[in-house]
Amino acid sequence: MAENQKKRLFSGIQPTGNLHLGNYLGAVKNWIEMQDGYDAIFCIVDAHAITVPQEPGVLRDNIHDLARLLLASGIDPDKSTLFVQSDVSGHSELAWILNTVARMGDMEKMTQFKDKSAKDGSERSSVGLFGYPILMAADILLYDAYIVPVGDDQRQHIELTRTLARRFNKRFATDGFVVPKGEIREEGMRIMGLDDPTKKMSKSASSEYNYIALSDGADVIRKKIMKAVTDSEPTITYSDDRPAVKNLITIYSLLSKKSVGDIVEQYDGKGFGDFKKDLAEVVVDFILPLQERIANVSDQEIEDVLSQGTESAGRAADIKMREIKKVMGLGS
Ligand code: TYM
Repeated sequence: MAENQKKRLFSGIQPTGNLHLGNYLGAVKNWIEMQDGYDAIFCIVDAHAITVPQEPGVLRDNIHDLARLLLASGIDPDKSTLFVQSDVSGHSELAWILNTVARMGDMEKMTQFKDKSAKDGSERSSVGLFGYPILMAADILLYDAYIVPVGDDQRQHIELTRTLARRFNKRFATDGFVVPKGEIREEGMRIMGLDDPTKKMSKSASSEYNYIALSDGADVIRKKIMKAVTDSEPTITYSDDRPAVKNLITIYSLLSKKSVGDIVEQYDGKGFGDFKKDLAEVVVDFILPLQERIANVSDQEIEDVLSQGTESAGRAADIKMREIKKVMGLGS
């Protein structure tokens, strides 16, 4: 971790496989753009992933695949720290402490637990899934992060993190935790499903026509874009009451770097056939070179980057944990 004057940035992503355009446009793209201006720490949050059952071999592969993807996307280990959450024990240690600061009332408000536990019912969900936002707060507070770039679905978790930091600081009359702020960019913060624009694009969606996976081949991408739902109007315009079309234009704009206005103008008088064909090529032109770069990241590079990351994150985490435990009267 570079010792400099830059403010600390922290963000995390789960190694659950099937990374999609929503993760890229809502998070990773911003990480890459922000890593120059901040002292950035990026974390592969495997301890979050186990809040739902994982197959050990698959989880291990997913962790390495995600590291490969992040490096191929442009996370630069000379500028940023990249590491795996469970390699630094301070995360779970601090999460336990924050469990004693969070109240049941805080947690019962968390909408993501309600969504995620809906499938199996809350009685069959793990306690870890319920406490998931507390571990996320620990990730952020452990490193004195000032800014946390995330997609819109993490907004409530950032709010909880702020609440816990303030409550802790007040209870122990300390300024031990920095109260972080979320960076949720308007554009890309909520990339919606291609088959249903009322739900976010999600790796756990039941239909593969919901998302474009970063591992999809050119033909699959073309097929998914051509099948993407639109609405009954034949024109290409950008507005909140046309969520499906708005979503497709957003993806087009973010990947091609053309403004929304230019895109709408370009397709004035044209139909969805032309628009979707071009959009498919924009997506293919982004994903295929990315896949090539992914194939060129070696296992050795991943190992080196992650072990370096663990060392520097671990150092910072140890200092913070000592400080926090002392303030609380914990330990011998
Ligand atoms: P995760 O792994 O579900 O998603 C990683 C990031 O991708 C964003 N995202 C989206 N953005 C726009 N449109 C979408 N359809 C979309 N789907 C996902 C998410 O908002 C997220 O920024 N709890 C976090 C991981 C985490 C974390 C942290 C983040 C753990 N600790 C500390 C920040 C700071 C999560 O499950 O993200």
